[in-house]
Amino acid sequence: MTVALAIEALTAGYGETPIVRDFSTSLARGSITTLIGGNGAGKSTLLRAVYGTIRWFAGRILWQGEEIHALAPTERLRRGIAFVPQGRCNFPAMSVAENLKLGCYTLPSRLHAARVERVCALFPVLRAKWTLAAGNLSGGEQQLLETAMVLVTEPQLLLLDEPSLGLSPKTQAEVFAAVRAIAATGVTVLVVEQNVHGALLISDTAIVMELGRKFMEGPAAQVRGDARIREAYLGGNIKETT
Ligand SMILES: Nc1ncnc2c1ncn2[C@@H]1O[C@H](COP(=O)(O)OP(=O)(O)OP(=O)(O)O)[C@@H](O)[C@H]1O
Ligand SMILES: [Mg+2]
Repeated sequence: MTVALAIEALTAGYGETPIVRDFSTSLARGSITTLIGGNGAGKSTLLRAVYGTIRWFAGRILWQGEEIHALAPTERLRRGIAFVPQGRCNFPAMSVAENLKLGCYTLPSRLHAARVERVCALFPVLRAKWTLAAGNLSGGEQQLLETAMVLVTEPQLLLLDEPSLGLSPKTQAEVFAAVRAIAATGVTVLVVEQNVHGALLISDTAIVMELGRKFMEGPAAQVRGDARIREAYLGGNIKETT
């Protein structure tokens, strides 16, 4: 496997408080990894640490073999790392077209049209809602729009925090299918999901976090079959039909 992202004994948090502690893992290029854990386990904090918006205390983060943990988020973005945070993050009063244009702000203007064209090919619904205010889209469409606003930069590492939260089962399936399609192009994906069952089905690897530390890591199918994980995150039972 080609290691895209390596996290080595990372400790990171807020102010004087470390939250993620002594965390290590490596992600293969083009793989999908799901982060699982209860509320407050440190999942969002780990994504923020990789993107660079919070305090780094110790350890290393290597992206494509180069240390990035001391770089500003804008510099990480320039190197192909993109983050879609938890919750709504579009500009609701602006149209879909304007939001996508905003997503392009770090790119030379000659690239904008082609990049927007490419993400619209991935998410055709955006083209259909082109002139609507983003705030008038459904939750699922807004999630796709926010992911698209990041994808226009053509990231090589995509950090997604709860992309299917609050969506209908059908729209969740669409989001998962989009993540699969993105990873199939060689993009490495690290995703936090409350829909553990759905996320494990599309993931190669799963990491379970507890109290800021890595509790378990393994092939998604294996983690899915673990009795402790079934009990804690899958309601003790898995629907085998999907
Ligand atoms: N901005 C912040 N300042 C200080 N502490 C924070 C901040 N954000 C989160 N924390 C603390 O860090 C810990 C981990 O929070 P984090 O948001 O990473 O958890 P999470 O696993 O993403 O949980 P959830 O499933 O609820 O989203 C919590 O104890 C939280 O209170
Ligand atoms: Mg979170």
